[in-house]
Amino acid sequence: MNANAIKAMLTSAAVVALSCGAAVAEQEPAPGVLVINGDIEITTEVKAPDYIDGLDMAYSGWRFRASETQAFELDDFDNPGMIFVEEAQVVWDTVDGSEGKSCASCHDGPESMKGVRAVYPKWNEAAGKVTTIEDEINNCRTTRMGAEAWDYNSDTIRSMNGLITLQSRGMPVNVAVDGPAKETWEKGKELYYARTGQLELSCANCHEDHYGDLIRAEVLSQGQINGFPVYRLKDSVLTGVHNRFKGCVRDTRAETYSPGSDEFRALELYVSSRGNGLSVEGPSVRN
Ligand code: HEC
Ligand code: HEC
Repeated sequence: MNANAIKAMLTSAAVVALSCGAAVAEQEPAPGVLVINGDIEITTEVKAPDYIDGLDMAYSGWRFRASETQAFELDDFDNPGMIFVEEAQVVWDTVDGSEGKSCASCHDGPESMKGVRAVYPKWNEAAGKVTTIEDEINNCRTTRMGAEAWDYNSDTIRSMNGLITLQSRGMPVNVAVDGPAKETWEKGKELYYARTGQLELSCANCHEDHYGDLIRAEVLSQGQINGFPVYRLKDSVLTGVHNRFKGCVRDTRAETYSPGSDEFRALELYVSSRGNGLSVEGPSVRN
């Protein structure tokens, strides 16, 4: 069976049209204003940074969801992702490892993490590379607590990331793309535009060229990550950025990188930068 036959069999007409290069104009999402708990204003659209050629405006994924899904984020009591944040608060205060310390022993309350989510992934001089929040958490566990690293993709680390993220909610995403992070950013950009898999689709083919269009009964967003970690209604757990990337790459019928791989770190930095200026929105809710 040739690749085209597989494409036709496994994918919707829309995807085939995409991979054949049929251009459909990008569609702006309907207007929508997100204010959480009546007081945290979330910027869901912003002029895209100059170094992003393919976008005029950056939009949060929230803008592309149906109003029933959007509503979950209006009040933390209705946001199912908050249960995981509460669980992480318990872990934050729990002593673990040979040094007899908890996160709180050194960082006091999680409020001390305000601003952190907005600037990660970020160049870490000691590590000599760009690191994610997950890396930083595990670095504290292994080198400062004498505890074992959590699996990069575990529920525990996603929930902890949710707790840390919440402290920056409403702040503008502001990852650095220059200086020592530049090389990683370039690598992430390359990955974003690389066509992969039997479908020969890049991230950009879907999330830059076709946002606002329907694909497999879902409205395509720009694939921004200001909302991560995300509570997905279909999974009923918080999803991490790399896990989402993995799912999207797999949908192009390509081999995927693993969560925690340098490729996904680079992609995370690049995708974050496409949404510099959008508010940190996590934990957000999506379908
Ligand atoms: C023994 C003290 C200690 C413990 C325990 C500890 N950390 Fe840290 N942590 C540090 C130090 C020191 C840094 C680097 C300096 C800084 O940014 O505060 C750091 C940095 C971080 C950062 C990056 C912050 C930034 O501004 O870039 C995160 C995220 C983090 N820790 C999370 C945690 C979590 C979650 C736990 C518990 C699982 C934890 N840490 C336990 C001492 C500790
Ligand atoms: C075949 C089309 C397609 C390709 C190619 C694709 N995605 Fe997606 N992606 C989707 C669909 C469909 C969704 C769910 C609806 C949405 O949020 O866009 C999604 C969702 C996402 C989300 C969640 C956005 C949010 O706000 O929750 C991110 C992030 C994402 N994609 C990133 C990527 C990256 C990075 C790549 C390239 C490695 C990629 N996608 C490739 C179709 C695609």
